[in-house]
Amino acid sequence: MTPAQTADRLTFDPVTEADWAALRELGHRMLDDLLDAQRALPYTPVWRPLPGTKRQLFDAPGPVHGVGADAAYERFRTHVLPYGNGNWHPRFFGWVQGNGTPLAMLSDMLAAGMNPHLAGFNQAPAQVERQVVGWFAEWMGMPGASGLFVTGGTMANVHGVACARITQARALGRNARQDGVQAWPDAPSPAPLVFYGSTETHGWARKAAEWLGLGDRAWRRVPVHTDYTMQLEALAQMIADDRAAGLTPFCVIGTAGTVNTGATDDLDAIADLCARESLWFHVDGAFGALVALVPSLRDRVKGMERADSVAFDLHKWGSMPFECACVLVRDPAVHVAAFSQTAAYLGAFDRGVSAGGQPFNDRGLDLTRGFKALKVWMQLQADGVEKLGAIIRQNVDQVQYLVRMVDSHTELERLAPAPLNIVCFRYRPATGGGDEPALEALNTEVLLRLQERGVAIPSSTRLAGRFALRVAHVNHRTTDEDIEALVDAVVAIGREVANAGR
Ligand SMILES: Cc1ncc(COP(=O)(O)O)c(C=O)c1O
Repeated sequence: MTPAQTADRLTFDPVTEADWAALRELGHRMLDDLLDAQRALPYTPVWRPLPGTKRQLFDAPGPVHGVGADAAYERFRTHVLPYGNGNWHPRFFGWVQGNGTPLAMLSDMLAAGMNPHLAGFNQAPAQVERQVVGWFAEWMGMPGASGLFVTGGTMANVHGVACARITQARALGRNARQDGVQAWPDAPSPAPLVFYGSTETHGWARKAAEWLGLGDRAWRRVPVHTDYTMQLEALAQMIADDRAAGLTPFCVIGTAGTVNTGATDDLDAIADLCARESLWFHVDGAFGALVALVPSLRDRVKGMERADSVAFDLHKWGSMPFECACVLVRDPAVHVAAFSQTAAYLGAFDRGVSAGGQPFNDRGLDLTRGFKALKVWMQLQADGVEKLGAIIRQNVDQVQYLVRMVDSHTELERLAPAPLNIVCFRYRPATGGGDEPALEALNTEVLLRLQERGVAIPSSTRLAGRFALRVAHVNHRTTDEDIEALVDAVVAIGREVANAGR
């Protein structure tokens, strides 16, 4: 069965039957170790720092000769595996980081083992990506939309705005793909393109402005209401003022679930405004878009289905391992017009492995792409979208439980509305705790002790000048007891720090 192996050529494959058997045994050990580690999570600290004694390994020079797979794995097992940032743990609530799932972990192994090239090609993996994109387009109310899996929310959003820039410029008779956003001596200077979103929009928008050559000046920040949603009257006024000043508005970003507080803009109203003003409507739904999968929450993102493009992550509330995000573009022709490229070396034929061309290369920046869609396909095949929706609902309910605990505790103070899965609050001693800098120092210490003791990992933010502990909940492993443990620990450490400071 095994083709004859010779010693006169090199390969990374095992060579002899014994080599294959050894690798198989090692693989089983890796799998057992990872599953054991995941099962033990509730009984382990959320985070522990990499000890100084173990850091030397990471300063070693690049190996000229290897130590063999067993020894390499042993280094991983002892020096890497125990020292992640903790986001797979049931009491991790920081930033917006998903846990991953055991089945998706195995699916990533299948994807890497098969290692297909997802520029496109006439192959089943391309059908998997096409199918998963189609499922989400349907569930998000954009049936028939084109889509692409990318690394993360930042890339998904940038792709949406890139489509907007090229499409809107074309409507003005400008060829943004040919001319970029530069002024050429043989053409009239184009009016600067500008785009809008609330001050609560995630930082990717600034990167997009810079990377797309528009410049940060082109990124117009619209003020928010006290619930952190965009002020639409201010948006309309800014657009009018910009037009009057000779600028060219081209896009409005609505956010479904802002990173600070989980606020969702009035997406329906933004869709109306964009229709009136002939602007591209992009929704950043990095995590919030996924509530479209939950019948009892779907109304929260009403209007998203009218967007020209939507970006969302599956490595946040979809629980998939990094990296896994998706951009949907309502009009497939527009999506392709923004990115397609032909090259002699990518020639497509009617038959053979390149039949059908490279559709994913034609929808985004990456030519070489991995098989990110497989883990999503596998998890959904195994569990169905109803279960994913129920887990999202469970997180929202757990956050409401946390809100009730915070609101009813005399030493805890909530600092913002918590409409979805994010709660911003702080410890405040019964005595008041002093001024803002004192409360910030106290809560910074609470945050760091929580993390360093491995109890729980929230992150932090600043709202209207006030420092907040921030729980962003996309954790499918969390129990109500974990939420209670977080609250108990915040209060206990808060008292400890406050009392020590007296
Ligand atoms: C609302 C929002 N948009 C975009 C992003 C960026 O996503 P990513 O970190 O996957 O690039 C985030 C990340 O937290 C986010 O919360």
